[in-house]
Amino acid sequence: MLIEVLIGLVVGGAVLLLVLRRRSHVLKTEDGWWGVGPEPDGEQDTTIHPFKVTTSDAELEDLHRRIDQTRPVPSLEDSQFHYGFNSEYLSKVVSYWRNDFDWRRQVDRLNQYPHFKTNIEGIDVHYVHVKPKRVPEGTDPIPLIMVHGWPGSFYEFYGTIPLLTEPSDPQALVFEVVCPSIPGYGYSEAPHKKGFTSVCAARIFHKLMKRLGFQQFYAHGGDWGWLVTTNMAQLEPKIVKGLHVNFAPPSKPGLSITLSILLGRHFPKLFGFTSADLERLYPCVQKLFVESIKETGYMHIQATKPDTAGRGLNDSPVGLAAYILEKFSTWTSHDFRNLEDGGLTRKFSLDDLLTNVMIYWTSGCIVPSMRFYKENFSRLGSPHTKIPVTVPTGYACFPNELMHTPKLWVQQKFHNLLTYSQMARGGHFAAMEEPQLMVEDINKFIKKVEMKSQ
Ligand SMILES: *[C@@H]1O[C@H](CO)[C@@H](O)[C@H](O)[C@H]1NC(C)=O
Repeated sequence: MLIEVLIGLVVGGAVLLLVLRRRSHVLKTEDGWWGVGPEPDGEQDTTIHPFKVTTSDAELEDLHRRIDQTRPVPSLEDSQFHYGFNSEYLSKVVSYWRNDFDWRRQVDRLNQYPHFKTNIEGIDVHYVHVKPKRVPEGTDPIPLIMVHGWPGSFYEFYGTIPLLTEPSDPQALVFEVVCPSIPGYGYSEAPHKKGFTSVCAARIFHKLMKRLGFQQFYAHGGDWGWLVTTNMAQLEPKIVKGLHVNFAPPSKPGLSITLSILLGRHFPKLFGFTSADLERLYPCVQKLFVESIKETGYMHIQATKPDTAGRGLNDSPVGLAAYILEKFSTWTSHDFRNLEDGGLTRKFSLDDLLTNVMIYWTSGCIVPSMRFYKENFSRLGSPHTKIPVTVPTGYACFPNELMHTPKLWVQQKFHNLLTYSQMARGGHFAAMEEPQLMVEDINKFIKKVEMKSQ
């Protein structure tokens, strides 16, 4: 009798522990209010409004006047992109922008997909929502939310949208895609209050997807989009069917990551390191450290005094273009710093790059976009950094990503890593740079999740 009671207690305790452990993997959050002033009483407006990007003669005249008044600074001889955006090349970009770039045509391009706005927690949230025209008989399109980062926008996904919603390959999955703008970015209203973190963005996007009627969906993200979609998976692991990311720097170097850094070079097998991992992790730790200091000054500014530096950028289109496009050069390939033109048009067209800049310029979002860093870094150690992600995850490892993350490191955070793909080409803005590769990997990952859940 006693033994049975004991066994019962032990089994019960173990089950309870498991349940508690599971529970602790779900992130908790509370509703926020980001509108001006106190939250009003009563029902909130949940209507969805169609939205179109517009422009005007006045907007273009103002832009051109400011561009014409820029004060060029000669670059140092032989400095390429090592001192930041090369001033000589900047003059060429700006001359193209001033004389050849057709914003009205790009506005039409932006409007080729349906845009909407809806108010959530007091701010207007903007998103692009594309439904497929055709779906194979007897199937439903797969809902996918795609979240951009800094200094990008929803426009980063424009190359992937047709590949996802009208694939030419009959074997490919057909998606229904939602690309929102993070509040404070692009056409989403900026929060009016302090404290808008990635978890708040994640909660708002869950509310958005719910409002659109999705009971379950997949999520994809890079840069901040990685953190926002990761938080979405942590908040509602039953609703996010799978998470696909192309960025996942470890938020804390736990024991196994530290050991792998120290010993991985000599015992790569022990940590599952591939030759690609070794190549990327061990040029020399000192070099990695110096590189990261050299390339993260912007982050320190944005994480401390975004409103000061941001004001200059918000007044000067040329300054804004230099600030944003420098990242599209260096984050696409570090070697591009050795080129006079930063290699910018090797992977992107000036039209696409300037369209992204214009989204920042016309919406005036550079300051709020920078504030996202401050809200992030003032909350180090908040709960989401400590709990793992349990939903099926796919990781696309692009060779020129800012920070290389070996499989073992990704698994420390993402406990259910179904795919880890070494990608053939691409850097930090991979969805924009290599839309085809990205969509192939999203297909590979989601097919695997769907197969498992059948
Ligand atoms: C802040 O951002 C870094 C990545 O840049 C991330 O690893 C960390 O978890 C974030 N912290 C918080 C509290 O959001």
